[in-house]
Amino acid sequence: MAGGKLQAPRGTFDVLPEDAFARGLLRKRSEELLEHAGYQPAETPIFEDTGLFARGVGESTDIVQKEMFTFEDMGGRSLTLRPENTAGICRAYVEHGMHKLPQPVKLWSWGPFFRHEAPQAGRYRQFTQLNVEALGSDDPSLDAELIILLAQVLEQSGVRTRLLLSSLGNAGTRAEYGEDLRAYLRARDAWLSDEVRSRIDTNPLRAFDSDHEGTRAAMAEAPHLIDRLEPEDSMHFSEVRALLDEAGCAYELDPTLVRGLDYYTRTVFEFESPDLGAQSGVGGGGRYDGLVEKLGGPPTPGVGWAAGVERILLASQGMGWTALLPVRAYVVVPKAECRSLAFRLVQALRDAGALAEMEQAGRSVKGQMKQADRIKADYVVIAGDSLEVKDMATGDQREVSSLEDAVSAVTG
Ligand code: HAM
Repeated sequence: MAGGKLQAPRGTFDVLPEDAFARGLLRKRSEELLEHAGYQPAETPIFEDTGLFARGVGESTDIVQKEMFTFEDMGGRSLTLRPENTAGICRAYVEHGMHKLPQPVKLWSWGPFFRHEAPQAGRYRQFTQLNVEALGSDDPSLDAELIILLAQVLEQSGVRTRLLLSSLGNAGTRAEYGEDLRAYLRARDAWLSDEVRSRIDTNPLRAFDSDHEGTRAAMAEAPHLIDRLEPEDSMHFSEVRALLDEAGCAYELDPTLVRGLDYYTRTVFEFESPDLGAQSGVGGGGRYDGLVEKLGGPPTPGVGWAAGVERILLASQGMGWTALLPVRAYVVVPKAECRSLAFRLVQALRDAGALAEMEQAGRSVKGQMKQADRIKADYVVIAGDSLEVKDMATGDQREVSSLEDAVSAVTG
């Protein structure tokens, strides 16, 4: 290491100011949308006991089998950097007796997650998720509300998407179907990829996700879980769909939709963007009616989603986030006596909503004009014996008669 070039670890990245601005704006707009729908902010730790994810996310998932950053702390405990949020939120719900609060408990959060995946565009080892969970009610309106909220987050970010929707029924239906699917797969053993074959016992559903040619051919005639839903689950799904239809939220039924986590029951959904290449999943989620109980709490239904912040920003290139920056002004101070006028002007510009800065490094007027270019100022205000406002886009420069006029020339 000594003398070697230091770089951010593989699969991680630095957030520099332009990106930070877009991320901040995405967060602010999402927060407003979610809080209007009654979701409140909550945060859980970035590392948890490894057992939480093994139990919560599922032993047979890719995440638990090969993607977790797990380490032992100095007390010999096995800890894991969180690969997702739902297990942690359910743990917190149980730990704080939130089932005693008025239900549903609706929470949102934003933060870093960690998966040891092969890095590529849109796939990182540290990434950021916007997460929303609603616990304590199985009302289909919650499923529909959450799907619509994610559609709105994506729409207001300028992300083109299609919504895939399905239902996985209850744990019993899933178990029975799993047996039939295993038998179906075993009968076509020779067609399957090694990976799918080795997971017939633990996770047969994964076969639907494979891009291996033989496996795909074998799956063409496979039975679908959605055709076997019990009446209650089928009714629940119809109600979710009716609510989406009424709201004009378009979706495609995809009976092969498999999510990479084990806890799902009933509704599952995923938003894909055609602008993302191979990592097309921009956000997804579903119901997890058995998870709280599995983690030691009372039987509690739940539903939620997570969206990848980096993927939203990648898919929203056309959005022109920086155009949403407030107007930027740079106040030039030609001589020291003008400093207090310049200072007052900067305060007035900021009060009026502009992003304003003034000379603070003892530069010459020429150096100050260069600095204004560097910070991409839209306007320069020269605060000398007279007040001059220069529009940096057109090059027009004109004298104004008061501080107020200078402010309105910039923010007008
Ligand atoms: P997930 O589908 O595993 O679901 O992840 C949600 C989103 O996180 C994905 O759609 C993607 O945008 C982003 N994401 C996942 N892995 C990466 C990665 N390596 N690099 C960049 N972005 C990534 C969950 O995590 C569930 N907890 C969602 C949920 C909440 N279900 C119910 N409640």
